Amino acid sequence: MILVVGATAFFGRQTVETLAARGVPVRALTRNPSTAGLPAGVEVVRADLTDPSSLDPALEGVEALLLVLPYGLDPAPLLQRAAGRRIVVLSSGAIPGSDVIASYHAGLERAVAAATDRWTALRILFPAINSLSYAHQLADGPVVRVPYPAASSTAVHELDVAEAAAAILTPDAGHDGRVYTLTGPAALTQADQVAAIGAALGHPVSTEAADPAAVLAQLSAFMDAGFAAALLSLLERAERAPAEVTPAVAELTGHPARPYAEWVRDHRSAFAGPAPAGYTTVAPWIVTPDTAGLLGFVTAVFDGVELGRVPLEDGTIGHAEIRVGDTVLLAFDRRPDWPATPSLLRVFVPDADAAIARAVAAGARVVTASATHAFGQRGGRVRDPWGNIWWVSTVVEDVAPEVGMRRLSEPVYAQAMHDAQQTLDRELSGRTDVVVSRPVTG
Ligand SMILES: NC(=O)c1ccc[n+]([C@@H]2O[C@H](COP(=O)([O-])OP(=O)(O)OC[C@H]3O[C@@H](n4cnc5c(N)ncnc54)[C@H](OP(=O)(O)O)[C@@H]3O)[C@@H](O)[C@H]2O)c1
Repeated sequence: MILVVGATAFFGRQTVETLAARGVPVRALTRNPSTAGLPAGVEVVRADLTDPSSLDPALEGVEALLLVLPYGLDPAPLLQRAAGRRIVVLSSGAIPGSDVIASYHAGLERAVAAATDRWTALRILFPAINSLSYAHQLADGPVVRVPYPAASSTAVHELDVAEAAAAILTPDAGHDGRVYTLTGPAALTQADQVAAIGAALGHPVSTEAADPAAVLAQLSAFMDAGFAAALLSLLERAERAPAEVTPAVAELTGHPARPYAEWVRDHRSAFAGPAPAGYTTVAPWIVTPDTAGLLGFVTAVFDGVELGRVPLEDGTIGHAEIRVGDTVLLAFDRRPDWPATPSLLRVFVPDADAAIARAVAAGARVVTASATHAFGQRGGRVRDPWGNIWWVSTVVEDVAPEVGMRRLSEPVYAQAMHDAQQTLDRELSGRTDVVVSRPVTG
């Protein structure tokens, strides 16, 4: 039986899952089994390192342990009871430095080595999971602010750590007394990592340098201040030289370390939100009397790239998808007894006037003539042969919102806005005598 201590932490959880998937008997130690969320079939035991009496039942029948301990937790009560067994300890690549992170982990390694000859240390530094901290920034826009953007690391994937741990925890693995520094396959700066996340998301994400003093203050609010200061100083030093790549993952697992780009793919949803790869959070879904015609129109006018269509037995299209820029448009043929439900769509293109000309050539009718608007966008509206209205726009100028609001009272922009409102009103109401619609009330 293998006991994983820290089974709900990163690296601990993945090791439990890896062992369980291989059919290796594994027991997960946690203070809260009811919230641990570990895979079915894993034996979960409630124990607390600060309550030594809880540890004896957890260690019953255990031949090997993985320790994933939070910074500062005293391992002595556990090590006294686990003495002589195989122990793999997750440690830090900050060793052999002299900061508090290095000192704590060096002390932990010494304590484990004092408890058993059958010990192995796995050191990691700036693992890939640290990049999850970028996710909340990306929710606000495509910019990530980090201290020391040029700091280099060889971010290791947690699955490689778990597989390395699993390999050592296997009986007679021959890793006693060894220290392995686990790294990814290449050194990347923090800015490189951010760019890799942008590549996976399909749009550029830039990096800005954050003030280290401000970051230290933020981090110190929820972690030990000495630990936070040591973390920043490790990053500062990592700006000066590319991080070291080691062969340890390949030696232990038998396969090359997973690239950072693979880690990003595995965690894409953390950065991109709930939409699957290639889809936007809100996706237009058009019901049309002629999906095939619509796909041809979108291809000709907006450089759409058809992704697929599902023909039904009666010859209609039950589902189709076409990519336009970063958006997938979905469409299908309406049933004969459904009302027409044309859509109103806004589409951004490199040259609105050229796209409107193509739309007209493809059978569309101009609803709103092209004009330049107060907020720096130029374009107009067309109605395609199936009734969908496309507001085709190009950004011609970056205009601050307050400038745009001010411009609205200038005659040329006021006229453009008036025309845009009136022409849409005329088109949708079918009346030619419209002024400008007010919202319907009551
Ligand atoms: N992230 C990094 O940059 C980095 C770098 C190098 C090394 N590491 C190593 O990664 C390891 C864990 O880091 P982490 O930030 O993922 O840890 P963490 O989130 O703080 O998780 C700590 C784990 O310890 C368990 N735990 C806490 N107090 C306990 C107690 N009194 N008795 C029993 N179990 C207890 C928790 O389990 P329950 O809450 O379920 O009881 C949890 O599974 C550390 O060894 C650290 O050295 C991390």
